[in-house]
Amino acid sequence: MVVLTADPINPSAEVVERAASVLSVGGTVAAPTETVYGLFAHAHSAVGCLKVFKAKRRPLDNPLIVHVDSLEMAHDVGHVPPELENVLRRIWPGPITVVMKSRGVLPNCITAGLDTVAVRAPAHPIPLAIIRKLKAPMAGPSANRAGRPSPTTAQHVIEDLAGEVDLIIDGGPTFFGVESTIIDVTKHPPVLLRPGPFTVEELEKIFGSVSVPPAARGLAEVEVALAPGMKYRHYAPETPLVVSHVDLGKAAAALEARGVKTAVLCIGDCPPVGHPLPLGEDLYQVAKNLYGVLRELDRLGVDVGLAPAVEERGIGLAIMNRLRKASVGREVRSLEELYVVLGVF
Ligand code: TXA
Ligand code: MG
Repeated sequence: MVVLTADPINPSAEVVERAASVLSVGGTVAAPTETVYGLFAHAHSAVGCLKVFKAKRRPLDNPLIVHVDSLEMAHDVGHVPPELENVLRRIWPGPITVVMKSRGVLPNCITAGLDTVAVRAPAHPIPLAIIRKLKAPMAGPSANRAGRPSPTTAQHVIEDLAGEVDLIIDGGPTFFGVESTIIDVTKHPPVLLRPGPFTVEELEKIFGSVSVPPAARGLAEVEVALAPGMKYRHYAPETPLVVSHVDLGKAAAALEARGVKTAVLCIGDCPPVGHPLPLGEDLYQVAKNLYGVLRELDRLGVDVGLAPAVEERGIGLAIMNRLRKASVGREVRSLEELYVVLGVF
């Protein structure tokens, strides 16, 4: 495994060429995107694809996102609905993945044999330069071990996948810190499969109306998962996490008084009780820091982490979705509920 550093704005030709040559012989490359780090393979390489699944311990029925450099390249792998041509020209490159009918030209490993394909053009100079050099798309999921928070730094990738990736490109921390928005445009109205940095409010301006099922808010897993990946346990730290609508200072004080060692994931000022884990001052900072903080939570050795519920608007929808998944449904609206979910009396 080789780790190379690269300037995220202007990556050197040497690093880009090295990555392209690893990918073109069926190797794997972890690299930053504007959302999270991805673990990439050449999109036409079944061997590279299998290495990605093996490194992540990812179930084979969970398909990968195909990363392109342009709308033209998207046409090669999927059927872009003609009425969306202009829309995609406007919103790509960017943190939005579009599920469309597949052309069936990619290895089954990538699409998990589905007749649809998830496509996005990342707004990050490093993957864009590699795709351009490769003259082919790169397929890839987030570069974490399956079930762990997505990596937002190269260090997170090394923690999860050391020795299992041919090349890691360290391009510094990622910009948004949560994964791309996923929208399924094979349905009418389009269905939000995963909220992300490209907000529902922005999507509604473009598509008129967008369906937001409870599962996209991170609520009650639906019977038949919308996106194959939605049925798997995601982003969950080892330490029990609780999403609290109750004031965090009050909740932490109540737990500490009952002998429960508590870490508090706080926005703005942290309360004077419990172990403070600052998330940032505003919701964009929270998104950027969230996964790093969830990883830190597990290193503290506390009994429980308390996270604040945030308003499900803008990037807040993506944050609540990730918090709900990380807390596996522990969401409380009163101290009594908090005691019940933790079994503390
Ligand atoms: O920001 C991102 O999207 C990052 C960077 C690396 O691009 N990638 C990422 O990939 O988060 P991953 O594999 O962790 O999440 C992709 C999600 C999975 O839940 C998968 O089930 C879903 O996309 N997906 C892929 N193909 C699909 C399809 N044809 N239909 C529905 N969902 C699909
Ligand atoms: Mg992932």
